Amino acid sequence: MNSDAIEISGDGFCYFALVGRGLLARAGELVRHQLGGDRCAIIADETSARLFANRLCESFRSQKCSPRLIRIPAGEKSKSLTQVEKICDEMIEAGVDRSSFVVGLGGGVVGDISSFVASIFERGVPHVQIPTTLLAMVDSSIGGKTGVNLSAGKNLIGTIHHPALIIADVETLESLPPRELRQGYAEIIKHAIIRDADMFYDLSSGAKQSKVEGSGGISLKSQRDLPVSARHDGLVALIWRNIAIKAGIVSADARELLGKRALLNFGHTVGHAIEHAAEFRIPHGDCVSIGMVAACNISIKRAGFSVEERDAVVALLKQFELPTRLPDEVDRKKAVAAVAHDKKFVGGEIRFVVTPRIGEARVSNEVTMADIRDAIAEL
Ligand SMILES: NC(=O)c1ccc[n+]([C@@H]2O[C@H](COP(=O)([O-])OP(=O)(O)OC[C@H]3O[C@@H](n4cnc5c(N)ncnc54)[C@H](O)[C@@H]3O)[C@@H](O)[C@H]2O)c1
Ligand SMILES: [Zn+2]
Repeated sequence: MNSDAIEISGDGFCYFALVGRGLLARAGELVRHQLGGDRCAIIADETSARLFANRLCESFRSQKCSPRLIRIPAGEKSKSLTQVEKICDEMIEAGVDRSSFVVGLGGGVVGDISSFVASIFERGVPHVQIPTTLLAMVDSSIGGKTGVNLSAGKNLIGTIHHPALIIADVETLESLPPRELRQGYAEIIKHAIIRDADMFYDLSSGAKQSKVEGSGGISLKSQRDLPVSARHDGLVALIWRNIAIKAGIVSADARELLGKRALLNFGHTVGHAIEHAAEFRIPHGDCVSIGMVAACNISIKRAGFSVEERDAVVALLKQFELPTRLPDEVDRKKAVAAVAHDKKFVGGEIRFVVTPRIGEARVSNEVTMADIRDAIAEL
């Protein structure tokens, strides 16, 4: 594997993530270094299929691997068992078998369902993640969690099935709408708060000169104004850094047994509650953004976080056009009630991720329901 690769390894798994420009057209060749088989299924949603499938299929054909493109509708509704069955039927019909592999080409929705399909088809075949949203590149493609939704809730059915390879081509992000881009930035800012103070200040405007040319001290707007090559170089470095952060956490605790992976839930306890209270009309990253403000306020009370650092977090979220206040129409009582149902309550005890200072996080057992209620009321 070349030097662009980040190794993601842990108990019983080891794979690489490649980040760069123009990787889509080379995907066939890159996958060939890892996997054999003369057939593969490429699962994409309508949008990622329209934008990228031709190039990807061509690159597989050039490696004597025959691709079958399977399209699903875009959106969270596609993460269903009904859709899983349809995909598997189409794979059988196309002659995909246990010597083949599955490629997920798209955002987190495609990544989650295609990896789930790969984990159960013929008792499991290899999976390749080709994420095309920022969120999928820095978050959902890493860690091996697969999943589909039930009417009772999101991601209730799933497996752990690590990909054989992740290929993140930053050029695919050119077509991503700003709303989707900022969903990825919410998780990037989360990574910065829990693990990487340098990245936090690199991203903040007015901060010291960035070590990562093009990614530091800029807003979404100024990023759009950058020359394409500078924007891409900045994104490669930033995505790289974030994959390394998530990989580091996941490698240490792949099955979420040690509590380390829980740190990735910073901002998510209140964030998920807001998603529920708003009946999923507010996107996940926006909810997490508001949830991080609540988590910072709780951290001031329970973990010695400073008011200045909380203000720096709020400023950085705003810089990336993320919300920091709960819209008036969202029922605060409903949000508080939703927290009580959250799965992160173990044995009646609230396990809440707090930050004592930017770049660090820990799970606290001292946060009370009253703290959370007050924090939501303040939003
Ligand atoms: N497995 C995990 O560990 C994990 C972690 C976080 C989130 N997730 C899951 O990820 C999903 C959200 O992922 P997402 O935010 O990528 O959403 P998504 O997959 O729905 O993509 C967002 C939208 O962008 C479009 N799109 C994708 N690539 C594009 C491109 N390059 N240009 C233009 N449009 C493009 C898609 O068609 C879609 O309409 C959720 O289902 C969530 O549960 C999983
Ligand atoms: Zn999230």
